[in-house]
Amino acid sequence: MKDVQSNKTTIPALGFGTWQLKGDDAKKLVSKALEVGYRHIDTAQVYENEEAVGKGIKQSGKGRDDFFLTTKVWFENFADNFADSVHSSLKKLQVDAVDLLLIHWPHPDLPLANYMEKLVEVQQKGMTKHIGVSNFTPELMREAAKLAPNIVTNQVEYHPFLDQSKVIQTAHELGWSVTAYSPIAQGEVLEDDVLDKIAEKHGKNEVQIALRWLLQQKGVIAIPRTSSEAHVADNFDIFDFELSDNEMQEIFALNAQNKKIVDPEFAPDWSY
Ligand SMILES: NC(=O)c1ccc[n+]([C@@H]2O[C@H](COP(=O)([O-])OP(=O)(O)OC[C@H]3O[C@@H](n4cnc5c(N)ncnc54)[C@H](OP(=O)(O)O)[C@@H]3O)[C@@H](O)[C@H]2O)c1
Repeated sequence: MKDVQSNKTTIPALGFGTWQLKGDDAKKLVSKALEVGYRHIDTAQVYENEEAVGKGIKQSGKGRDDFFLTTKVWFENFADNFADSVHSSLKKLQVDAVDLLLIHWPHPDLPLANYMEKLVEVQQKGMTKHIGVSNFTPELMREAAKLAPNIVTNQVEYHPFLDQSKVIQTAHELGWSVTAYSPIAQGEVLEDDVLDKIAEKHGKNEVQIALRWLLQQKGVIAIPRTSSEAHVADNFDIFDFELSDNEMQEIFALNAQNKKIVDPEFAPDWSY
């Protein structure tokens, strides 16, 4: 298992995403992921599964130092309810602090300084070890870095069909990592011929190739999601082979498609 270093913090490079997993399913899959060897779990207030994720962690029997836990503050909680909402997340997750707390999306109206200050405050209170952002453009990343010097990551959509070189370059400049969400393009990598050809050569599948491609990039973390116990194990089985420079470049060339999958109406202007 690989780790990523970012702003003097160590983050396990392969995490387990939990969006859309609910109740007993979420509990079972989180427990399974920790059993298989994942040491990084990603949830969010808006996924409405923090309680189930907490139960899954408990069920796994893992100690608090055995996993890196991330949650995200939903933007409707920024104005009046920031610290209370984080307190409630910790209670649901059954932990005293998370490892990483993210601003889930930049607020469409509130000034950045307003909620970055609250993020730093909850960190100072010990509710999270590290802080970060999500869905931030390069411009917002630079503004955020001035307001909160110890940010460790920007979690953004990133898979073979989307060019995120500007976000990655900015992250390198700031000493941050980039966490790739929807890292297998919500399953679309399974349809791609280039990934299929490379997969066949390595005796792997397209999902494993896409995840390996992400993890071979400097400072990149990936958090695939699955509702299948078999896929949990398959997606972790990516540490026994390596993509060549040529294969890496072939996959990078797929980003000409510029396919953005997650694009809600409150998203910032992605034209960077
Ligand atoms: N910060 C944000 O705004 C944000 C936004 C979106 C996502 N996220 C985070 O990123 C995580 C991952 O992104 P995502 O959930 O959008 O999508 P994803 O991980 O790119 O794709 C999930 C899809 O891939 C399929 N899949 C997974 N492994 C597979 C395998 N080995 N073979 C075949 N199919 C496979 C799953 O189906 P099966 O269930 O059948 O395996 C599911 O339909 C989320 O769960 C969440 O934690 C964050």
